[in-house]
Order: sequence, then C-alpha cells, then structure tokens
Amino acid sequence: MNKVIYLDNAATTPVDRRVLEKMLPFFSEKFANPATKWTSSLSKEVDDYIEEARENIANLLNADVEEIYFTSGGTESDNAAIKGIAWANRDKGSEIISTHIEHEAVLRPLETLARQGFTIKFVPVDSKGFVYPDEVKKLITKHTILISIMHANNEIGSIEAIEEIGKIARENGIYFHTDAVQTVGHVPVDVKAMNIDLLSLSAHKFYGPKGVGALFVRRDTNIAPFMEGGGQERGLRSGTLNSTGIVGLGEAAKIAKAEMAFNEERIRKIRDTLFESIQREIPEVYLNGAEGEKRLSGNLNFVIKGIRSEPLLTTMNERGIVIGGGSACSAGSKEPSHVLRAIAVPDDDLFSGIRMTIGKFNSEDEVMPIVINLKDAVKKLRDLSPFWMKGD
Ligand SMILES: Cc1ncc(COP(=O)(O)O)c(C=O)c1O
Repeated sequence: MNKVIYLDNAATTPVDRRVLEKMLPFFSEKFANPATKWTSSLSKEVDDYIEEARENIANLLNADVEEIYFTSGGTESDNAAIKGIAWANRDKGSEIISTHIEHEAVLRPLETLARQGFTIKFVPVDSKGFVYPDEVKKLITKHTILISIMHANNEIGSIEAIEEIGKIARENGIYFHTDAVQTVGHVPVDVKAMNIDLLSLSAHKFYGPKGVGALFVRRDTNIAPFMEGGGQERGLRSGTLNSTGIVGLGEAAKIAKAEMAFNEERIRKIRDTLFESIQREIPEVYLNGAEGEKRLSGNLNFVIKGIRSEPLLTTMNERGIVIGGGSACSAGSKEPSHVLRAIAVPDDDLFSGIRMTIGKFNSEDEVMPIVINLKDAVKKLRDLSPFWMKGD
C-alpha cells in the first residue's frame, strides 16, 4: 500500500519516536505506583520522572511546577476547570462568560451548569471567528465568576486575544480559563504574561500519547476537586497516575519547546503553498476564518462550492489522503459545524467545510499529490451534482 498522506493533525498527531522511546520502560520495567515513593525506591524513581515531566510542562507554559495537575486529556481538563470553578465559587456569583465556538468539552459542561442554575453568557465572534475583548467587558456583572474562552479554535484556527481578555478578567477579579488544546506545543504560551488562571492542554495534539493531558491552575485558585478518591495530585485529581502517559507528555513538551519555532515556520510554508495551489487549480474555493498571523500555522478550512464534504473526504480517503471534516472531534455528527454557523457561513455551504491540518511530519512533496487528487475528485463530484452548473 502506498504511504498515506495524513492531513488531520488537529484531530490527533502521531507520537514522536523520541517520545515513544522515553515511554517504553514505564510499561513493564518502571511500573511501580508513584504513590508509595516514601517506602519504595522503585516508586521513588517513577515519581522522579513524573516530576521531571511536570517541570517540562511548567517550563513550556511559564508556570510553577505546583500549578500543573495531570489529567486524562483536554476533555477532562476543560470539565474540571469549568465545573470546579463554578461549584467552588457559587457563593460569589453564578454567571459565566464563554463563546459559541468553544469545543464540545467546554460547551457541554456549560449546558450542565445552566441546568444547575448558572447563567451562561455568550460573547459574539466576528466572521473570522474573533472575540473582541471589549465585548467580553460588556457582559461582566458583579455576579460573573468565570470567563472561559479558547486560545485557538480547532476548526478554523483563529487565535484569540487571550492576553487582553485575561487582563480584563484579572482587573475584575474573575477567574479566566482558556482551552489551549490546539496551541500548546505549537505557539508560545505564557500563563503569567497572558493573565491565565486555568489552562487545558492535551498530549496527543503535539506528538504525545492519547489519554493524557494537564490542567494549569494558578496558585491560590478556589477550585473544587476534579476527582475524589485517594488524594493524588494534591487532592484535586485522585487516581493512580498514568506514569507512562505523563512521561510521554513531558517529553513531548520538552521537544516542542526546543523545536516549535522551526516546525511552525515549515508547517506554515507547506500550508500556504497547498492553499495557493488549491485555489489556482480548483474554481470557487474560499477560506473560512482569517488569513495571516492570527491563524494557527497548520490550519486550513475552506469551502469548495457545490461539494458536500462527506463524499469528498471518502473519495480522498480511498486515494490514501486523510482529511478532517469541519470538526473531527464530533465525527459522525450529521449536524453542521457550530463554528461555521457562528461565523455566519452561508446555509448552502454549511456542509461543505473541509479542514486540512498540517503537522511536522508532513512535507512539501505531498502538496502536488494532494492537489491533483483533490482537483480530480472535485471534478467528478461536481459532474455528478444536479446543483452544480456544468461548465463552471
Ligand atoms: C479545542 C479542543 N479542546 C478540547 C479537545 C479535547 O481534547 P482530548 O481529545 O484530549 O479530550 C479537543 C480535541 O480535539 C480540542 O480540539
């Protein structure tokens, strides 16, 4: 079988070989439970590696090690941050500010909180997917306890003005959480400079393993435990630590810090060449979201007029090219993307969003085969379509 071209790096990334090598001994050699580190040298050794991983994460975020809590990934971190702040601070207020373009891992917990009597206010986004900090300010009242706004959107790659939003939250004594699952390991994140109180990250989005992530919680934050039990992670997140995954996450963080700038420049070049070629070769294609620096370097999201994304993705998959639809995380959903809706993509195009996300293992050599196959698949599908004007 020919090599598959993988263009769905926002959904998940392959594990870097160096990360895998670092993890392997933790399955059956260094397997001890770090909780018994006081009495067992085997456990102490594992615990030392866990603390090294915590330090790597803290370094990547400019956080302190005591502010990093390991979780099972982005979804858990988002749930923990949002419900944990809401439940612990209910006596201070019951209003939360967020956006309509958040990941489901934020939107669903917010729905749960709404059913429990919290008021969720949604700040609008513009047609490129950007939140204006002044609009956030307008929604604040003396009852607001939390602002949760993502760092970058997983579908259209818009990078939000987190630093300014964080400043507004800080000035008003409101906790600020950001879902940085799509940015950590890809763009610089500094929780101090960005005024962030809580931040979610996930290893599998930056060449680490699946099922492990972290939540940054600023010191002295009033938050309810995410998981109750044996008291691990300073009582906030009980459960035997996933030492293998955590070691992988730490290594992925270390590599990302060292190589991020180089990778992102390369990825941006491949992405731009790819989209220029697509636009040159295929008529009636338009970009969803913003151009330029305020878009994740690997993200492309576009509409090919007259083509539903599902049959196109299937055709491309048969040709060995793996592409995401609007949102890979809710794959299988028959609903149009809530993000494309929020940025007011016309109704006719809502099922035509194609997301291609480039990663560090993609290469410039892949651009030509992608474009040739896409052009051919689009032509065939348009020829079959009763809605497409033949000859266009
Ligand atoms: C922005 C965002 N938040 C949260 C998640 C969920 O992360 P995880 O898969 O680690 O649960 C994703 C996954 O795609 C995401 O893109």
